[in-house]
Amino acid sequence: MEHPCDKVLACCRKIAQCSQTPGETTRTFLCEAMHDCHRALRGWMQSLGMDSRVDAAGNLRGLYAGSDPAAGRLLIGSHLDTVPNAGAYDGVLGVVLGVALVESLAGKRMPFAIEVAGFSEEEGVRFGIPFLGSRALVGRMDETLLAAEDGAAISVERAIRDFGLDPAQLPAAVLDPHTFAYLEFHIEQGPVLESMNEPLGVVASIAGQTRLAVHFTGQAAHAGTTPMSLRRDALAGAARWIARVEEEARSTPGLVGTVGRLETKPGAGNVIPAEVSASLDVRHASDEIRTRAVDNLIAIGNDLALDRGLGFRIDRQLDQPSVEMDPALVSAAARALQKTGCRGHRMTSGAGHDAMILAEKIPSVMIFLRSPGGLSHHPEESVLPGDVQLALAAGLHFLNGF
Ligand code: GLV
Ligand code: MN
Ligand code: MN
Repeated sequence: MEHPCDKVLACCRKIAQCSQTPGETTRTFLCEAMHDCHRALRGWMQSLGMDSRVDAAGNLRGLYAGSDPAAGRLLIGSHLDTVPNAGAYDGVLGVVLGVALVESLAGKRMPFAIEVAGFSEEEGVRFGIPFLGSRALVGRMDETLLAAEDGAAISVERAIRDFGLDPAQLPAAVLDPHTFAYLEFHIEQGPVLESMNEPLGVVASIAGQTRLAVHFTGQAAHAGTTPMSLRRDALAGAARWIARVEEEARSTPGLVGTVGRLETKPGAGNVIPAEVSASLDVRHASDEIRTRAVDNLIAIGNDLALDRGLGFRIDRQLDQPSVEMDPALVSAAARALQKTGCRGHRMTSGAGHDAMILAEKIPSVMIFLRSPGGLSHHPEESVLPGDVQLALAAGLHFLNGF
C-alpha cells in the first residue's frame, strides 16, 4: 500500500502539472487549469465520503461529516493558486494534507465535522490583490473587490462568471457559523526551521504587509534627439526610487521591501519611457514600522517625481495588519508537535497566509513544515517526506486534542 506521505507528495506533484503555462507551474485566480486541480482533489475527497463543491469565489470545499451535529466544524485549508513558475507545495500542500488527514481517520468520524478548503487565490498575482478566496469566507468579497481588474481588464466578477460560477451565490461561500477553529499547514518558505534542525513549527503571529501599485508618468520622446537635460524619463525616475526602496529596507531592521513587477510603456529601445507601473510589497512584524516605512517611500517617490517633472500616483492594493494566532490553539498545536518528538517551536511568519483572514472570524493557527534550503516561490521548492509524515501525525494529535 502507498505510504500516506508518498501519496501526499505525489498528489502535490500531480497538481503542479495543472498549469496555465506549459512547462511550468503557474495557476492564477480561476484560470482554466484550476478546473483540473479541482477535479483531482474532488475525486480523492469523494472517495473518502466527503461532500465537495466549488463555492462562488472558486474555493474548493470538502466536508467530512462528524458524528455529533452539535459539535461544530473544524476548517483545514490553504490555497490552490500559485505565483508564476512556482514550486509544487506553497499552498497546495496544506490542502492536500487536510484531505490526507481525513483519509488517515480511516472512515472513523470525529464528533465535529472537518471541512477542507482549497482557496482560489492567496498570492495576489492576477489582480495585484491577495486573499480573494479566503475573504469570501469572512464575507469580505465586496463590490470594490469584485470590480478590480486584471492586466487584460477582466474584473474579478467576470472571472468568476467565466469559470462557470455565479457571483450572486457569494453569501453561500461564507463560513458555516458553527466553525470553531481554522488549521493551516504550510511550508515555512524560509530557513529558520532548517537552521534549528526542526521538522515542524507553530506559527504564533504573521507579519503585516502593504502592497501598492506605483505609477510614474513622463514624456515619450525620441531617444536619439532629446538631450538628457530636456527629458522626462519615467523609468529613470522609477529606477532611482527602486534603489531607495532597497536602501530603506536594508537600513531598517526586520523590514523587507520588494519591487517585483515593472511595466514600461511604450517599451521600445529607442523611445524615452513615458509610463512606468511598479509593484511595491513592504512587510514587518510591527505595523507601526511598516506603515511609517510605506509613508516614507511614498514621500520619496513624490519628491523624486517633482524633481524630474514626472507624475507620481499610487493605488493601495493591500494594507493587511499583522495578526496573532489564537493562543489556545497555538498551545494545542505545540503540544501536538511535541507528541511527535518535535520541540513545538513558535515562530512569526514573514509570508502572508489565508490564516490572517480567517483569524478575523475564528480562532486560527498554522503548522509550518521545514523548507529545505529555505527555498520557496521557486520551482525547486521542496519538502521532506519524513516531515510530511510528522505533520500528518501532529495533525491527528491536534484533532484528538479537541
Ligand atoms: C504569499 O506567498 C505571500 O506572502 O506573498
Ligand atoms: Mn502560500
Ligand atoms: Mn506564496
